[in-house]
Amino acid sequence: MCGIVGYVGRQQAAPILLSGLRRLEYRGYDSAGLALVGKGGLKLYKAEGKLAQLEKILPKRLPGVVGVGHTRWATHGEPTDANAHPHCDPEGRVAIVHNGIVENSVELRARLQADGHVFASETDSEVIAHLIASSSKATLEQRVREALLVIEGTYGIAVVDWEQPGQLVVARNGSPVILGVGDKEMFVASDVSALVRYTRQVVHLDDREMAVLAPDGFRTLTLDDQPTDKQPLTVSLSSESFDKGGFEHFLHKEIHEQPDACSRTLRGRLDRQFNTAKLGGLELAPRDLLDIRRIRILGCGSAYYAGLVGAHMIETLTRVPCDAEPAAEFRYRNPVIEKDVLYIVVSQSGETFDTLAAVQEVQRKGGRVLGVVNAVGSTIARQCDGGIYLHAGPEVSVASTKTFTCSVLAFALFALHLGRVRDISPGVGRRLIDALLALPDQMREILAGEAAIAEIAREFLAPRSNAFYIGRASSYALALEGAQKLKEISYIHAEAYPASELKHGPLALVSPETPTVMVVPHDDLLDKSLSTLEEIRTRRGPIIAITHPGADDRRVADRADAVIEVPRSESVLDPLLLNLPLQLLAYHAAVALGRDIDQPRNLAKSVTVE
Ligand code: F6R
Repeated sequence: MCGIVGYVGRQQAAPILLSGLRRLEYRGYDSAGLALVGKGGLKLYKAEGKLAQLEKILPKRLPGVVGVGHTRWATHGEPTDANAHPHCDPEGRVAIVHNGIVENSVELRARLQADGHVFASETDSEVIAHLIASSSKATLEQRVREALLVIEGTYGIAVVDWEQPGQLVVARNGSPVILGVGDKEMFVASDVSALVRYTRQVVHLDDREMAVLAPDGFRTLTLDDQPTDKQPLTVSLSSESFDKGGFEHFLHKEIHEQPDACSRTLRGRLDRQFNTAKLGGLELAPRDLLDIRRIRILGCGSAYYAGLVGAHMIETLTRVPCDAEPAAEFRYRNPVIEKDVLYIVVSQSGETFDTLAAVQEVQRKGGRVLGVVNAVGSTIARQCDGGIYLHAGPEVSVASTKTFTCSVLAFALFALHLGRVRDISPGVGRRLIDALLALPDQMREILAGEAAIAEIAREFLAPRSNAFYIGRASSYALALEGAQKLKEISYIHAEAYPASELKHGPLALVSPETPTVMVVPHDDLLDKSLSTLEEIRTRRGPIIAITHPGADDRRVADRADAVIEVPRSESVLDPLLLNLPLQLLAYHAAVALGRDIDQPRNLAKSVTVE
């Protein structure tokens, strides 16, 4: 989603802003721009398309030690040069970059137009620049505050003013803004990835908080002008985490990082003495865990699908009823919040607007929410009452892979922890710990078989326009995730169904042209799944089966056109392994089709708008 960068210091701002924008490219965008405060005033450069388009129009010399930059993912108004940020007031005094949505922009624009303002773009954001420039207050800080007080909606903004050239003013309400503290210089970005090349000292702004940045430091204060005196924190991410490390695509690198990422999720969290998991961040005593009558998991997209798999694990191991629901649907249906229900949200970025709003809805009604989050210090992580960090490392590719796996793993840890408080025996706990510790090597084994999976993707998926993904119970949740991966990175239309539902409708579309990917572990439901395989075979639909090695049971292998075998784990943990071939199938189909794998069309990494 849109990205913000800003700089004030002694160095030339343009190269720093451009390198920050490069780091934010992964979030998805369709236009980009820069504003620099130089001796002659404010200079603006904007272009539709990728950063390369912007660089083409930049002059060789770009003087200015203060500036802001932006990558825009179009919401209000098409991706054109005019709609690209930064936006200015008509006199070209103030330039702003904005993430979020100004909900009352139509009224504000009409009011400003009635006063003679002429607008240069169709965006909601431009009104902010006009409001700031038309304020009669003396300082930029006061003028920004005055403007923000009439704005309804969400924003992360950075503002420069050529009449106050040594300053950058930033503010946040619902859209992340992070300050980077340097030596006689200050940075700002909407994502920490754009800062770590320059500094590890960061300050996260809270909602309705603003900051005034100058080369010699910063001040944070509320929109009501109360100082908040924030102190910088040190982030542990390194700049290398954002490099491809020899892989052609971040997505491929991130698929291969899964064994190590899982080891990090597990590190220090397994307790051999009591055969349980130690989850220090939950903020729930065993007594609180005994009081839980039901668990509801919320998230968006793949995070929701990870929640579906997690719900199955929790219910299986703890016998506490557990289900998952898309966060946006939940928050808009006026949900009943009960005291003895535990809510868990899942979010890689920790910034997804709908997920954050669901957390706030639960808390507003007195419920307790835990977060399963990757991004340390993110808005959702800070808003939740406790939670589990994934420690998966930064995920740069738009489509999630390693964080899906690590989220499911975090649910497995939670299920073990809750299960050992309630129902499961030390013996079962011990078996689960052994199985959890074996997962990274089992994942390496699956990844070592990548060439054969790539061949299957090229033969069965890449040449087709449609595919079905099916499975039962938690394998159905994996089918949803597998279909999602194929759709978003290869653009092949894929639909997921519970295997049992196929004969209630979709079977009409099964034909030699429509392959079916079936997740079919050797579990209690195997016999049922074999009947489904027969139904597809009878209609001559090609079948790719992701299954377990069946040394003396060839029933799946004999019915499928292509078979991908993964090692067995404890049955409840099998989804953690069965998912990897689904990722590789999608990746290799997308490679065969020459897609823009890390930045699929129309998609953004972190969806910070409704
Ligand atoms: C799909 C994907 C998205 C995200 C969703 C939630 O590959 O990545 O569906 O899962 O936008 O994002 P987070 O986890 O950041 O809340």
